[in-house]
Amino acid sequence: MKVYDSVQRVLVSKEELQKRIAEIGSEISREYEGKQLLMVCILRGSAIFFADLVRAIDIPVRMDFMAISSYGSGARSSGEVRMVKDLNTKIEDLHVIIVEDIIDSGYTIKYLKNLLLQRNPASLKVCTLLDKPERREVDIEGDYVGFKIPNEFVIGYGLDYAEDYRNIPEVCVIAPSAIK
Ligand code: IMP
Ligand code: MG
Repeated sequence: MKVYDSVQRVLVSKEELQKRIAEIGSEISREYEGKQLLMVCILRGSAIFFADLVRAIDIPVRMDFMAISSYGSGARSSGEVRMVKDLNTKIEDLHVIIVEDIIDSGYTIKYLKNLLLQRNPASLKVCTLLDKPERREVDIEGDYVGFKIPNEFVIGYGLDYAEDYRNIPEVCVIAPSAIK
């Protein structure tokens, strides 16, 4: 079995991903020049996006990693979010950008923003590769958004379905036959 057997169609191609990431990278480089920038990768979904994004930035960037889990590992998040791995960096006085794979209901990013704001960063913004506005349950937006996408379950480029398919190199809509 190959990963593409579980793909219905490619939603965002490799070329579209790299073009948009280059744009966001330039924007961040311009806006944060002269500032101490910390990019926070939210494991595991944003790992691949993060690796490409930091390399599209040409000012000094520090990196750190956080892992969270929302209860339920299937196709929807439950609104209950819990930290599994905290940052190693003290973020007081740093300019922080949280890098997420997707904003869906919005619960995860709301939890993360509240948590990091309590630690008094110099500033805090959110960069998300994907945004599904139709699914939003809390009033929250990304500051940098790669692509707004329709309400379909996507896999690839870091995003999983039940922990599989993160290694597909583009963002794809999952085939109905792959959903257990
Ligand atoms: P939220 O808390 O509902 O905004 O959900 C955010 C998390 O749900 C993301 O970090 C993903 O792990 C997961 N998620 C939401 N939609 C998708 C999808 O279409 N494919 C894969 N994961 C998704
Ligand atoms: Mg996930």
